[in-house]
This record gives sequence, C-alpha cells and structure tokens, in this order.
Amino acid sequence: MRGKKVQGPRSKVAPVALRPVLPRSARQPTALVTPLLNWFSQNARDLPWRRTHEPYAVWVSEIMLQQTQVKTVIPYYERWMRKLPDVHALAKAPSEKIHKLWEGLGYYTRVRNMLKAAQVIVAQHGGVFPKCFDDVLALPGIGRYTAGAICSIAFNQPAPILDGNVIRVLTRVFGIRENAREKETNARLWTLAEELVMAATQTSHSSKPEMTQRFGADKDFHSPIFVRSKSLGNKSSFSNSPPPRGPCSALNQSLMELGALVCTPRKPRCVSCPLAKQCVAWRDGLTEQLPNLGERLTATARRFVACVVERDGTLLVRQRPAGVVNAHLWEFPNVEVPLRTSSAEAQRALEAELGAVIETLTPLLTVKHSITRFRITLEAFRGTLNEGNLRPTAGEWVGAARLRQLPFTSAHRRMLENFLR
Ligand code: ADE
Repeated sequence: MRGKKVQGPRSKVAPVALRPVLPRSARQPTALVTPLLNWFSQNARDLPWRRTHEPYAVWVSEIMLQQTQVKTVIPYYERWMRKLPDVHALAKAPSEKIHKLWEGLGYYTRVRNMLKAAQVIVAQHGGVFPKCFDDVLALPGIGRYTAGAICSIAFNQPAPILDGNVIRVLTRVFGIRENAREKETNARLWTLAEELVMAATQTSHSSKPEMTQRFGADKDFHSPIFVRSKSLGNKSSFSNSPPPRGPCSALNQSLMELGALVCTPRKPRCVSCPLAKQCVAWRDGLTEQLPNLGERLTATARRFVACVVERDGTLLVRQRPAGVVNAHLWEFPNVEVPLRTSSAEAQRALEAELGAVIETLTPLLTVKHSITRFRITLEAFRGTLNEGNLRPTAGEWVGAARLRQLPFTSAHRRMLENFLR
C-alpha cells in the first residue's frame, strides 16, 4: 500500500501449501517470461491502440495513459486519431485544437510537447517516426518509459519499461522492500525490466514446442487470443487486431496488463496470477506492503471563488497565461482566497479581481478536484456587475458558439455546462 512502511513478513496469511519455498531459479527473468507471455496471450484486453503497431498511435496512447486510466483515455484516443491521424496532421494542428482534444485529460504540458515533438519529427526525420531509441528519447516530452514503450510495442525492440504498474509487479515478484523511488532501487528495477525484455528475445527460438508454436519469429508472431478469436469468428475487435509486434512488445505489455488487471494496488488477484509460483510477496504475505513508495506528500487544501457573468448572451471568460498550471486553457474570472474567508471577503476578493462592483452573487456549484498535490475547492457563483471600472484583464465577452470551441479547465467546464445546455 502506498506510503506504508514495509514490515517484516506476516505469518498465517495464507495456507502453507500456497507458499512454496522458491528456488532462486524460479525468479530468473527467463522463468517469468513464458508464463507472462502465455497469460497475456489469453488475457490481453482489446484496446484501440492494440489494433495497430503504428508508432504514432502507440505514442499518442502512451502519453494519454500517463496519469490517466484506460477507460478515460479510450474516447480521447479515438477522437484524437480521427482528427489527427498522423504526425503530419499533428505537426500543423493549431494550439487551440490540440488543447480542445485534450480538454479534461489534464497535465496539458503533455499535449504541447506532443505538438513540438511532431514538428521535430517532420523537420528532422522527414515526417517518419524515428526508430532509434536515442532519437525517440530526444523528442520533447518523451522520457525513458515512453521511449521504451514505443520502441518495444511498435518496433519490438528489447527496450525496458518501468511505470507504476511495472514497479508494483516487479517489487512484489522479487520481494523488493526498499523504496522504489530511491535512486539505487529504481536503477535495480530498470535492470530487472531490461533483463525481462531481453529474455523475451530468446523466446521465439525457445526449444519449448508450445512457445515455438505460439510465438514464432517476429513476423509471424501469433498469440492465441487473436488466433482463437478469429477462428471463433466473433465480432470482437480481436478479430481486427494484429497480434503484438513480437515477444518484446508482448512482454512489456504483459507487465503493464498484469499490473492493471491482477497485480493491482489493493486486493491483488494473486490466485489468478501467472507469476504466483514465483512471487516472493505472495509467498511472504507482503503484497499489501509492496511496493514501498516512501512517505506520501500530504495534500494541501486550497480554495478558489469564481463567477459567471452574463451580458447580452455572452459570458466573461479569460485565457490562462503561459507558464502556469493549465496554461492556455480558458476559465471564468476567479481568485484564490484563504481557506477560512467569509462570503463578504470572498466577494471583495472577486471584485478586486474584476475591478467591478458585484451587485448580486448567487451560488452556482462547488467543484472539488486535485491538481498535483493540491486539493482544490472551487466555489462558483453567478454574478451581476456594475461594470463601471471592469478591468480589461478581467476577461472577454464570448458567445455560446465560440465558448463551445474553446478548451476550458475541467472545473470551469463544469461551470460552463450550466449555461450551454
Ligand atoms: N498503461 C500504460 N501503457 C499502457 C498500454 N499500452 N496499454 C494499457 N495500459 C497502459
């Protein structure tokens, strides 16, 4: 569990019979690869980005999946791929368009970096997504994890990946009790991830008939789930999916998938885990304590007040400047106030922000959300103003049609929805 200190092994959590003494060899990377690949071939979810090996598509999905759950990402990914199907389309997309396509996903630096990276690919790589790991890593917004994910999933290169899901799987299987965020332990985890994906390169030449049959050489790599779905003739998208690009692609995705479906943060499904036999955490009753991610930063509460002001069918809105959280997105006039501010003080703070006297202020809604380590409460009002000295910086008056096109921050979009219905 996050932030919990790792304690010693807990006894009597599961029957002794389920806790065999593990020979070291059981946890050798090569011993993990076969069960992982077999499990993935039977259990991989049919996700839209798995229907292609295009590096552009893999990249888009991986950036969206950072900090965001699969089920949230799917509609965003599908819309993005319809509107911006390749690097060229992205490279020339206007900033407002990409922000609008990303609206609600948060962490908007990601999408601005994607635009920059697409422009680099067009300018420096002739519009072809680079294959060389170092070239991929050099693109804006692409770190070691994302470069590894693209190079393995799209090109079947033995490039390791290590994200939250993979950290959880590896710390549990190998019984790593040290803080996974500390440099040395993190380096050790990267090494294990690399050993695993390297070991996967051996499987296509494996002497085991089952593996040879299921996972042939790169080009005719077939995982049973895809073959089976086809032969069953079902309409599931598996029948539309190409099999993974090869064993490195499948191995890395199997780690992600195991972390998402089985080796979950809480209540892991160890009885259905393909690595249960090899797993130290399962044997020693440590699954609840691992991974050790050190102490969590405590969240800081912040309070904002905002108001929607209407004039002749338009609303007063403003664009957030560059260099701040949610930069370039749109919002209603708002101001941060101390947590214990009275309503009269909150009104005065809003008046100072607007440079106008507020004549009426009616509660509209309260939105609670978190950004990084801040727990934010946004109290939204509907206001009428005496516009006498309304500041030019207070915002601009925008009509419904244009408001629909602008990318808003999530909390302010909730406010806007009340007026666009
Ligand atoms: N999380 C990160 N990358 C993923 C992927 N390609 N598929 C599913 N979940 C993921």
